[in-house]
Amino acid sequence: MGIGYIEMFKGLGPHIAVELDGIDLVEPDVVYDGEAEIDLGGRLVRLTAQGPAHTVGDQTVLIDDRVLFTGDMAETRMFPIAPHFPPHDADVDITGWIAVMDRLITLDPAVVVPGHGEVTDVSLLRDIRDYLRFVQAQANNHMTPGRTSPQPPRPSRPRPGSVGTLGRTRNGSTSRCGSATDDPVLVTSRSAAEYRAMFDLSPDDLAGVTLDCCAGGASFAAETPDVVAVDPAYAMGIDELGRLVRAGLHDGDRMILDHRDRFEWSWYGSVERRRAMRMAAAEAFLADLRERPGRYVAAALPALPLASKSVDLALCSHLLFTWANRLDEKWHRQAIEELVRVARQEVRIFPLVLQGTAEPVGFLDRLRSTLPPSQLREVPYRFQRGARHMLVVDATGRAAWTSRR
Ligand SMILES: C[S@@+](CC[C@H](N)C(=O)[O-])C[C@H]1O[C@@H](n2cnc3c(N)ncnc32)[C@H](O)[C@@H]1O
Repeated sequence: MGIGYIEMFKGLGPHIAVELDGIDLVEPDVVYDGEAEIDLGGRLVRLTAQGPAHTVGDQTVLIDDRVLFTGDMAETRMFPIAPHFPPHDADVDITGWIAVMDRLITLDPAVVVPGHGEVTDVSLLRDIRDYLRFVQAQANNHMTPGRTSPQPPRPSRPRPGSVGTLGRTRNGSTSRCGSATDDPVLVTSRSAAEYRAMFDLSPDDLAGVTLDCCAGGASFAAETPDVVAVDPAYAMGIDELGRLVRAGLHDGDRMILDHRDRFEWSWYGSVERRRAMRMAAAEAFLADLRERPGRYVAAALPALPLASKSVDLALCSHLLFTWANRLDEKWHRQAIEELVRVARQEVRIFPLVLQGTAEPVGFLDRLRSTLPPSQLREVPYRFQRGARHMLVVDATGRAAWTSRR
């Protein structure tokens, strides 16, 4: 950038040009690629090239693995600036920036020194990442392919308590295999306790970034650190979503009362306990959505607006397999491959039986043979009879796998 940057700032106005006039740039006498270390007499300083993110050449400086200088990738008191001033400064990369924030968060620095503003801590990096994810997802959501200006979202009118499944393909067109408009999918509200049991989650499993897709009205993200919640229903305004989520509680209760014999109650204890858990989860979800919208991304499988390998663990509760009477095998394969693309470690899916009837899904074994290595693992959660296992798909890419599509 160098002299180009000086010229760019001079162009912002004569009063700035005067200040920058006659500035002589000093060329660096040491350069590095990737990473470099400097020993400052007992203090280890690590320089890391991180860009392109905020600009093409972002660098962080980490001192003794404790104090992180971020440059302008992090600033307090203002939203992150995505500069686009061609020809000198046009290399902003928001997806790269989100990935850098993810990497820096895992370093867990005790002190973060931003490019502008107050010295702070790692929470600033989380806020910036969540904000960028939110803006990126909103922009993706509001753009119609081929158009250059944002379009207002036009959600289809859902029946009370439910939302139509959006089986969108990568280019944004509607996939026929994903159409479920004749029997729309409920937006339900499970709690973090239910998620921990359905997915047999240990504290270690939750140490990194977790994706909840499809999160619906679940309070898993509200109750758990570092969760990104994705669901197409988030494209609605919060008021409409609130009505939908609360209506979903009653629709779910009615379905269970109509099919009492298909459920076992050893895990919940009673109908009332389950109802209370769900109501609390719905309200916790709605409060968190209002307070921290950056954690909630409006998007749909099988095409997520998330960078490859940007989360550690991906969870999918009550969409895949549950709705296999509406979403076919091809859609399932695309959706699971997408979850494997964004996850670094594993994808966990529960349950593996159809909603209502709890019948096994006929194509499960055949589908598994076309996916990366997977295993069926018993979980402690009990509710739908016959739903005792989750599917765990390896996302590391370490195990040999040949797609037999
Ligand atoms: C039965 S709810 C499950 C919600 C939550 N995971 C839970 O366990 O309570 C199913 C969710 O799938 C969402 N959904 C429908 N189509 C989807 C798609 N193509 N991609 C991701 N989510 C989808 C719906 O909006 C709904 O919130």
